[in-house]
Amino acid sequence: MSLKRSIQDLRKRRALVQKGGGDKAIEKQAAMGKLTARERILALLDKDSFNEYDLFVEHQSRDFDMDKKILHGDGVIIGTGTIYGAPVCIFAQDFTVAGGSLGLMHARKITKIMDHALKMRVPLIGINDSGGARIQEGVNSLAGYGEIFYRNTMASGVIPQISVILGPCAGGAVYSPALTDFVFVVDNISKMFITGPSVIQTVLGEEITMEDLGGARVHAEITGNAHFFAESEQECFDQIKKLITYIPWNNTTKAKAFPPKDPTFESRIDEIVPGDPKQPYDVRDLIKAIVDDSDFIEIQELWASNIVIGFGRMNGETVGFVANQPLVLAGVLDCDSSDKAARFIRYCDSFNIPIVTLEDMPGYLPGVDQEHSGVIRHGAKVLYAYSEATVPKITVIIRKAYGGGYIAMNSRHLGADFMFAWPTAEIAVMGPEGAANIIFKKEIMEAEDPEGMRIKKVEEYREKFANPYVAAAKGYIDSVIEPEETRELLIHALEVSKNKEDHRPAKKHGIPPF
Ligand code: HXC
Repeated sequence: MSLKRSIQDLRKRRALVQKGGGDKAIEKQAAMGKLTARERILALLDKDSFNEYDLFVEHQSRDFDMDKKILHGDGVIIGTGTIYGAPVCIFAQDFTVAGGSLGLMHARKITKIMDHALKMRVPLIGINDSGGARIQEGVNSLAGYGEIFYRNTMASGVIPQISVILGPCAGGAVYSPALTDFVFVVDNISKMFITGPSVIQTVLGEEITMEDLGGARVHAEITGNAHFFAESEQECFDQIKKLITYIPWNNTTKAKAFPPKDPTFESRIDEIVPGDPKQPYDVRDLIKAIVDDSDFIEIQELWASNIVIGFGRMNGETVGFVANQPLVLAGVLDCDSSDKAARFIRYCDSFNIPIVTLEDMPGYLPGVDQEHSGVIRHGAKVLYAYSEATVPKITVIIRKAYGGGYIAMNSRHLGADFMFAWPTAEIAVMGPEGAANIIFKKEIMEAEDPEGMRIKKVEEYREKFANPYVAAAKGYIDSVIEPEETRELLIHALEVSKNKEDHRPAKKHGIPPF
């Protein structure tokens, strides 16, 4: 064959395979409000940056008449490309080909690109849209999943791993996203569950829709499995692109710096926090008054919102924020918010991202429900994660820092590098009301006017202990600062900490309270 003809032949072959499951299946995909796998990759990556591999891979299954079936690309597209110039490895399951089901060759394509991402130390993005293990391929499909989970685990903490759920992600397939760092879901499109509605109906006799069982909102608001929620696929891709600018390519580098657009911006930080410690405020306003250009990307915004986590930049460099949210449950730590904070702290620590903690909370949430849900075990994760982290760790106590909360929220005692407190900070074993009722119980009960005595004793306790100066006198707080000084001091502290070295005893790995 002449060169010209062989090139024509190649183009014809490419065009055929790139059609995936064909026009009818593509129409069906569009009717579900979904883009195709190829459209998704092209929408996410920089223009003309995508290079595809294994386009001509075919399944090799013979059972159940599979030898008569052609499955283009075996239902998954893999390749490399860039996002704002940063290299990424990517795979996208093609639902138009056998429902994106995972057989042996499909899995081999995914593990090939995962190996590549790990070897080249670049982020991995997986777009999931699949009916799960390809039923006709039996144990080969199960083996494929196992090999993916193994690689997810090997890559954890080495390269960023992003999962995008853009269709069904059922059965054991959910565990690959669960092992990755960030899970993105889209309303009405994402469906994640271990056991589908039909099995639930058979086994438990309960009727439930796929949406109610494991739709996007379920995972963004209830389970916490999803980190980002979007209304549309395009919005989801914009979120991924933004996130990619905040994180490094791998655990040996730092995220790229982006100088602030407006370095002289002035915030009204002193107007955000009410003087009355019982009055709530939105801690996100405080974060936006501190970070460059008020630009903050929040993670798991809709779940466990009594704690706020996310990335912002300080003088151009990425910083991870962990902040109690006084607007929700007074910002207490409970089982879910502990899990949320601890996992994020570990992410930042793995990827060289300094952590700034903003503290205003009355402690761990009391109650039978929390105790029985394991608040001891979950709460311990926060202590473990902060203590273990060796990246720069800075805390600013805004108002309340009571009891276990004071210790847990990156206190000096867990290894904070800098501890700042606003003059409104109250650092004590518990709030003045609770404390006075306990330690002055006898005086209050025996007083002629018990209520008057109680108020007097609460005030006495507040004056003596509920301020930052007792802790500052012991050196537990480095500096009591004015609110307007917060941003500049944090920038300075981060600059000073740039070459921080902090070594831990040699061990295989610790045993965190998972
Ligand atoms: C083989 C599959 C498939 C699968 C879908 N298809 N799932 N083929 N193995 N697991 C095929 C269908 O036969 C159909 O082929 C095409 O994909 C589209 O599927 P439809 O059912 O027509 O689409 P839809 O109505 O949108 O329903 C999608 C679905 C449903 C909800 C995902 O297909 C479904 O419930 N599939 C099975 C899900 C499941 O139970 N998977 C196994 C989970 S167990 P044609 O040729 O007609 O176009 C598992 C274990 C892994 O994953 C354990 C790892 C640890």
